[in-house]
Amino acid sequence: MKNIILLGPPGAGKGTQADLICELLNIPKLSTGDMLREAVASGSSLGKKVSNILDSGGLVSDDVIGSLIEDRLKMSDCVNGSLFDGVPRTLGQAQILDEMGVTFSHVIEILVKDEVIVERMSGRRVHPASGRNYHVTFNPPKSEGLDDVSGEELIQREDDKPETVIKRLSVYHEQTKPLTNFYSNIANKTGLNYFSVDGTNSVQEVFKDIKENI
Ligand code: AP5
Repeated sequence: MKNIILLGPPGAGKGTQADLICELLNIPKLSTGDMLREAVASGSSLGKKVSNILDSGGLVSDDVIGSLIEDRLKMSDCVNGSLFDGVPRTLGQAQILDEMGVTFSHVIEILVKDEVIVERMSGRRVHPASGRNYHVTFNPPKSEGLDDVSGEELIQREDDKPETVIKRLSVYHEQTKPLTNFYSNIANKTGLNYFSVDGTNSVQEVFKDIKENI
């Protein structure tokens, strides 16, 4: 069973690579970012609770994330493994997953410097219904402004404004980056495969590096 974590700063390319890996391995993508945005779009009580947190670039509480993942893992498509995109994001979430009995085969860290991130985010466009990601320059859709699969309109995310991106980067360094040491240490003692890829290469080159390791 392949449970894989994608780690990296906002805009490193986790969502982009997650779609490619999931297609390759035929496993589902568990993106807490997508789940939370869906909750906001549906107007559910969870959505109302987390909307401001998402827009300001803060983190939703570990308890809420734990429940989302626990419910999602009960679905039958997770039986052969899952791709964890953007989760866990704190040491607390890593502990919650461990207590649930979730074990990982691979942790992939995508490395991109902060300076590159802000430029990337300003050009990102997303298809809200599927979570598919594009970039106006680096990964453009076949038809400008439209999703390749559904032909529906792409949007810009509220939290991709430069000031919010800077906040998200600072939250990443403070709360998520410690997970790289946490999982490297586990990899040194167990069969967990931890590896890093250079996320400043092209989307296909990054994917090639990942494929060689999984
Ligand atoms: P989430 O949706 O998870 O956002 P994120 O981790 O900040 O990551 P992004 O989706 O912004 O970027 P990405 O790394 O997926 O890059 P992408 O492939 O899109 O979370 C959003 C919010 O939800 C959080 O801020 C938080 O509030 C909340 N949240 C979510 N999970 C949570 C959790 N577990 N705990 C607490 N709160 C949580 O690529 C970015 C752009 O670059 C795209 O335009 C893409 O086309 C382009 N690109 C990708 N790869 C390349 C490349 N190699 N070269 C050039 N351009 C590229």
